[in-house]
Amino acid sequence: MNLIVTSPLSGVSSSSELEEFLSDIGLPYVPRSGKSLGELLRENGADGVIIWQEQGPVLQMGDEQFFFHPSMAKIRIGAYRKKKQEDPMIKACGLKEGYSFLDCTLGLGADAIVAAYFTQTTVVGIESSPIIAAIIKWGMRRFVSDISWLSEPITRIQVYNSDHNMFLSQQKDNSFDVVYFDPMFRQPLLKSQPLSPLRKLADPRPLSNNTIQQACRVARCRVVVKERGLGEEFKRLGIENVLSTSRDKVAYGIINIS
Ligand SMILES: C[S@@+](CC[C@H](N)C(=O)[O-])C[C@H]1O[C@@H](n2cnc3c(N)ncnc32)[C@H](O)[C@@H]1O
Repeated sequence: MNLIVTSPLSGVSSSSELEEFLSDIGLPYVPRSGKSLGELLRENGADGVIIWQEQGPVLQMGDEQFFFHPSMAKIRIGAYRKKKQEDPMIKACGLKEGYSFLDCTLGLGADAIVAAYFTQTTVVGIESSPIIAAIIKWGMRRFVSDISWLSEPITRIQVYNSDHNMFLSQQKDNSFDVVYFDPMFRQPLLKSQPLSPLRKLADPRPLSNNTIQQACRVARCRVVVKERGLGEEFKRLGIENVLSTSRDKVAYGIINIS
């Protein structure tokens, strides 16, 4: 996929941050020079363009846009705050205040934000796609909201662009309380709109047994894997303890570290 970065027609506010973003994402910058996005795409033979907006980078690809938005996290944390509704991921992970959480599949960052809200501490998010990692990292960095219970946890998320296998292999034994995976489903849930543009950019590889072994070495309390309820993935990965949630057709495979 051939992507370029440009600025909005109104220009760029912080060029030093733009330089940092370009180095994170590893894509060429094309000056806007008053041109339409269509012109820039044609002239550069590009499939998509990332616009460095004030509120965070926005990838425009055909009719679809991809950018950081904490809407799913807002709904989940809001449900807990309003109705004391238990979040299934928090339950599966057994997350408590002060727990360290390693999210090995950051994606849009919704799970990481919910984890940061409940643990009240730093959350580490690993994402192997450099495009997703850079857009989410900078979208989080530039996110502003007057809802402090949403914006404050986002400031505690550290995003790294890395393959989680590589990252895990570099961590000491028992260095995170919970290690969490939410890989791309083998069979996507068709209704999952927020993940639709992400699917084109995401790393589709399934988890390997070796990854789970590494995660068990790095985790102090639990390794948790999210999957479709009826998927064969848990069996393949040797995970027997499964928490099903009928509400959203997903399940969490739980490995307790003794
Ligand atoms: C289903 S999404 C995760 C959604 C996320 N839990 C959320 O709440 O937004 C899976 C993400 O994991 C990433 N991923 C897949 N394999 C990976 C790997 N080996 N290392 C790091 N990230 C990976 C994909 O690129 C994708 O962005």
